[in-house]
Amino acid sequence: MDIKKKISEKKCRVGIIGLGYVGLPLAVEFAQSGFHVTGFDVNSGKVASVNKGNSYIEDITSNELKKITNGKLLKATNDFSELKNIDAVVICVPTPLRKTRDPDLSYIIESAERIAEHLHKGQLIVLESTTYPGTCEEVIMPILENKGFKTGRDFYLAFSPERVDPGNKRFRTRDIPKVIGGYTEKCAQVAILLYKQVIVEIIPVSSIRVAEMVKLLENTYRAVNIGLVNEIAMMCDRMGINVWEVIEGAASKPFGFTPFLPGPGIGGHCLPIDPLYLSWKAKSYNFEARFIELASQINSFMPHHVINKLLEILNVAGKCLKNSRILVMGVAYKKNVGDTRESPALDILEKLFIAGAKLSYCDPYVPKIANEKIKISNSSLTKKLVASSDCVLILTDHDCFDLNLILKHSKLVFDTRNALKVIPRQYRGKVVKL
Ligand SMILES: NC(=O)c1ccc[n+]([C@@H]2O[C@H](COP(=O)([O-])OP(=O)(O)OC[C@H]3O[C@@H](n4cnc5c(N)ncnc54)[C@H](O)[C@@H]3O)[C@@H](O)[C@H]2O)c1
Repeated sequence: MDIKKKISEKKCRVGIIGLGYVGLPLAVEFAQSGFHVTGFDVNSGKVASVNKGNSYIEDITSNELKKITNGKLLKATNDFSELKNIDAVVICVPTPLRKTRDPDLSYIIESAERIAEHLHKGQLIVLESTTYPGTCEEVIMPILENKGFKTGRDFYLAFSPERVDPGNKRFRTRDIPKVIGGYTEKCAQVAILLYKQVIVEIIPVSSIRVAEMVKLLENTYRAVNIGLVNEIAMMCDRMGINVWEVIEGAASKPFGFTPFLPGPGIGGHCLPIDPLYLSWKAKSYNFEARFIELASQINSFMPHHVINKLLEILNVAGKCLKNSRILVMGVAYKKNVGDTRESPALDILEKLFIAGAKLSYCDPYVPKIANEKIKISNSSLTKKLVASSDCVLILTDHDCFDLNLILKHSKLVFDTRNALKVIPRQYRGKVVKL
């Protein structure tokens, strides 16, 4: 049966490679829409969890997962030979940087090689992992065509960037318009038809490269604007101006200004990395992406700025960093999630640890810190812990933090996220903001 017919009749068997923050919610969307989905992952712990209906992603509840695994609509496996039974494969594996800050496509290449072993006529392959323009055509296509198959004739290839925002309750995978570019017109048509079944709005673009570039523009736009506002925050600090009030004032303009917020640095698997994929690729065209490099420098300086400011604050209180008790609130890279990848909090903790500070941290989303150098365990937020700390350093503004308790019992608070929006008069003297 033709793949288009299979999709329309929901007989298309969908395979998702990589069951992380992107892949698992996507697998759930397809399964909830009535498709039979197989999730492939090299992590056997994740495979077992999915099959037991235990979710490890905040945005998916175990109840939701159980419903579809019990209904046999979703199963997970690390046996990649099952790809031979799959009609449409979506790749959602990591795209990190190497130590040298160059793109690491090894996960994509490994996935493409596994698909190539079982590639069959009429199959659709979609890449969702964020990557530089040219990846599908220059890296994936040659692997898939190795056995003599021709893209667009024997199988279909498309790119559709993932835009999911973990922790965002308003926009889940299905609510976010999906940009799709195919290698040929037919490739695009097949991919569009598939995603139409589960996503509210499809935005077709004319080519795979345009689709690849769309994602990098989105994330570069965010990284550059955050870099700008971080620079303004450091400037305001020098001038003795409250940057948060400045941003709020500017945001009252009903047009021409989009507010971005400063913070202790950028983290996650996207913003610190994706723009560097683009600047790396641009270099091969003898093009220097200056905004990207500058924003990356400013954003990666923010943890140092936080430490410098903390030193100043402690100094005013007559303390030095060594042996000071610092309670870090939040180590995830953003609020209400447990993701610590590239989190600036880890960088800050490591620097504070090396400087001899006595550290503790509270983060209900991060029970353990996966960094050998930082040997501290997660604490519960108690009056005693707060009162015994020389400074409470807010690095992530999780909604669940009891800010009143912190305000009431702390000696000093350094709030890098403007978590404490309204501070009662009697506590104002002990709160310092970024
Ligand atoms: N996390 C986000 O908010 C987000 C948003 C949009 C786009 N993206 C992009 O999506 C991609 C995936 O990101 P993520 O956050 O879901 O990553 P993740 O680390 O949460 O998940 C990736 C999964 O892939 C698995 N994996 C690794 N190699 C594999 C292989 N060879 N075969 C099968 N499985 C393999 C890992 O075990 C892991 O479970 C990245 O390119 C990222 O830039 C992420």
